[in-house]
Amino acid sequence: MKFSEKALRFFLRMGARVFYGDGSQVDWIFEKIRRPRTAWLAARNMLNFKLRVPRLAGLITVGIEPVFGCNLRCAYCWGRFEPTLSGKREKLMSWELFTSVIDQLPASVETVTFGSVGEPLLHPRLIDMIEYAASKGRRVAMYTNGTLLHGEKAEQLARSPLSVLNVSMEPTEETARDFRGIDYGQVRKNIQAFSGMRHPGMDLQLSVVIHPGNQTLVERVHEEWRGIVDRVKVAPMIELNVQSCGVRESCSEIWRGNMNIQTNGVVSPCCLDVEGELAIGNLNKQPLREILDGGVFQDMMRGFCRGKVPPRCMRCTEYGGKGVPLKIPKLGKRTDRKPL
Ligand SMILES: C[S@@+](CC[C@H](N)C(=O)[O-])C[C@H]1O[C@@H](n2cnc3c(N)ncnc32)[C@H](O)[C@@H]1O
Ligand code: SF4
Repeated sequence: MKFSEKALRFFLRMGARVFYGDGSQVDWIFEKIRRPRTAWLAARNMLNFKLRVPRLAGLITVGIEPVFGCNLRCAYCWGRFEPTLSGKREKLMSWELFTSVIDQLPASVETVTFGSVGEPLLHPRLIDMIEYAASKGRRVAMYTNGTLLHGEKAEQLARSPLSVLNVSMEPTEETARDFRGIDYGQVRKNIQAFSGMRHPGMDLQLSVVIHPGNQTLVERVHEEWRGIVDRVKVAPMIELNVQSCGVRESCSEIWRGNMNIQTNGVVSPCCLDVEGELAIGNLNKQPLREILDGGVFQDMMRGFCRGKVPPRCMRCTEYGGKGVPLKIPKLGKRTDRKPL
């Protein structure tokens, strides 16, 4: 790692300590923020959140959903959402929508992340998408479940200008089978092989969701994957449909400087808004600039600042327990994080 990157990581770690109360969150931030200018905008966004200023200093990242649908049915994800989500929107983001999104991004956007609700490797034009975004000066990060990370697809991905690949995993063979329905050994082999063939500038990370069924097992992951991946990121499971998580006045997610774009063009400021209930516009109908400056988003921010929280946000909470890092800081009255 270059000296300038080490220095940036140091400052981001400090920021993570102040903001999340936990420096380890730096891995999540560093994935998306590598430019000092982006770090400055992120800091101003977070200051606005803390001071309850209903304004973004700038958009810094965009999450794209290339595929809405998955070859797995993880217990905390698609498996749980499928009954309400199935058939709700197009399975694949069209090339036209994708290129239009990339072409409209403001200069402040450093990173485009492929993920959201689905498995990006199922998109037949994924490599073209990565190349297109990179050719327009954006860094590209991506999430995958790792099951399709083999053969020609893996070789193409390894040569592509992807900046960060996150492979989602469970700590053990048993939890991988029980919670993700995968063969741990096979996915580990895929990751090992990919680690050896990726281009030198690409970071490879493991992403682990902490939940009541694996919490005591997560610590060992760092040791077991040393030398194969560059780092291991952990985050709590988010429960999206609790009855009510109590009164909440404001949520950092809205101020993160990130927008999520679903296969149908819906734009949402929350990466957990799987059903698009917090939609602030649709890129098939309006340009991105108009959506960002438009009344729906501005009213939403003002509402959060006044304690008027959308119903979707009253059903969202994150798993918390001893040693579980915080993912989405909140302000104002709320019930504490609690084991689900
Ligand atoms: C929804 S997946 C989509 C990309 C890809 N299919 C994968 O598994 O990485 C993106 C990330 O969200 C995580 N995830 C899924 N359900 C979650 C939940 N309820 N709370 C927190 N993270 C979750 C996954 O483990 C994965 O790391
Ligand atoms: S976490 Fe990823 S692999 Fe698992 S069901 Fe969700 S989208 Fe599919």
